[in-house]
Amino acid sequence: MKSHPSNQNSSSDNKERFSSSGFIFAAIGSAVGLGNMWKFPYITGQYGGAAFFILFVVCLVAIGLPVLLAELAIGRGGRGSASSSFVKVGGQQIWGRLGMISVIAAFLIISFYSIVAGWTLNYAVSAFSGNLFANPDFTGQFNDFMSGRKPIVWQLVVLLLTGLVVVKGVSAGIEKFNKILIPGLLILLVVLMIRSLTLPGAGAGVSFFLNPDWSKLGAESLLVALGHAFFSLSLGMGAMLTYGAYVEKSQSLGMATLAIGGGDLLYAFIAGLIIFPTTFSFGINPAEGPGLVFIALPAAFSAMPFGALFGGLFFMLLAIAALTSTVSLLEVPVAYTMERWKWTRTKSVWIILFLCFLLGIPSALSLGAASNLNLGGKAFFDWMDFIASNLLLPLGGLIVTVFAGYYWKGAAAESGLTAWWFRLWLFMLRYVAPILVLFVFLHTSGVIKF
Ligand code: PHE
Repeated sequence: MKSHPSNQNSSSDNKERFSSSGFIFAAIGSAVGLGNMWKFPYITGQYGGAAFFILFVVCLVAIGLPVLLAELAIGRGGRGSASSSFVKVGGQQIWGRLGMISVIAAFLIISFYSIVAGWTLNYAVSAFSGNLFANPDFTGQFNDFMSGRKPIVWQLVVLLLTGLVVVKGVSAGIEKFNKILIPGLLILLVVLMIRSLTLPGAGAGVSFFLNPDWSKLGAESLLVALGHAFFSLSLGMGAMLTYGAYVEKSQSLGMATLAIGGGDLLYAFIAGLIIFPTTFSFGINPAEGPGLVFIALPAAFSAMPFGALFGGLFFMLLAIAALTSTVSLLEVPVAYTMERWKWTRTKSVWIILFLCFLLGIPSALSLGAASNLNLGGKAFFDWMDFIASNLLLPLGGLIVTVFAGYYWKGAAAESGLTAWWFRLWLFMLRYVAPILVLFVFLHTSGVIKF
């Protein structure tokens, strides 16, 4: 009966389901990650603080949420993988092939995202144990760590932890893990926020984060903000689409979209209220770049009372946020291989993780021990990041918007939106999101420059 594996009938629908709150926690878990806690603060620092934050909020609401709803609806409508769902809701085969771009993107992202997640685990352990603060040369410590084999070992730990969750399945694994950790993460964040807001001189950091200086904004800030809104909401790589396939029909996707967007924003906001007051209080430049969290913040923690405790909590929080994201990334290729090749969940999880681990090794080494692993001056790690985040992610987003906006007949029914909201959603999907996402693509791929 099945002429092509991606053209399956409803009997091949997955049967796994989230509970309604479990889905919200899992989706927030996917959204909240290193993007919120590591990347958001430093790009906000680089692009001028509060004005950039406001731009990010606008992009998230105006473009991110419509695309998020589209991914969830395609997933729930198709109940397949990030590739087959397009076909199952009525798209032609070509859409299924295009959907594979997201599956590949998710696979590539796990291979390098888990490396940075590994750094955070290493830092959590060495902060709690006090080792991190025994030597005040934090740049030297970071470089030493990076030039050894430890990043690979910690990456392996991250991949194993991720696998142990995903192998248990949607409700006993992914849902349960997120239901415990996402509220736990909020408590940790609030504790750290109170700590940083009560540091001497914290006010300057708060005002950098919340008092906009519009003169610092330019066209580039807009594209960076939009690209980050996509990354932060886990869009364009099939993660939300795959989770959407496990949502009950009775759940409102519109409300879920608002809850996920609100959750993502809340965690990013609190992360800003931790990092900027802390950096300003200790005279650190928030535009420091990727090293901000691993080099500048340990310096700040070391100078504060109970720094080992707060530093340890901070890095543990980063590690948790990263793990709830790697779990969602892994589910994308796992769902795909389970459906396409009829692999068991266990087989899918461990084979994919093994391949991610292999692919991750040159990435990890290219930032330290084997810095000759680069092409055209770009490290292997940066190439992976560039291909996945700058090329495949906007492409994946574009495919979703064009499909839901122009081709999918069942969009109105599956979204569950009222007529007015549906019209607004369609307008954003047709005329606003694809154009802006195309600009992001042209910018991140280097075709247009400012
Ligand atoms: N949204 C995650 C973050 O902010 C990253 C991510 C992207 C996770 C895509 C899953 C899928 O860190």
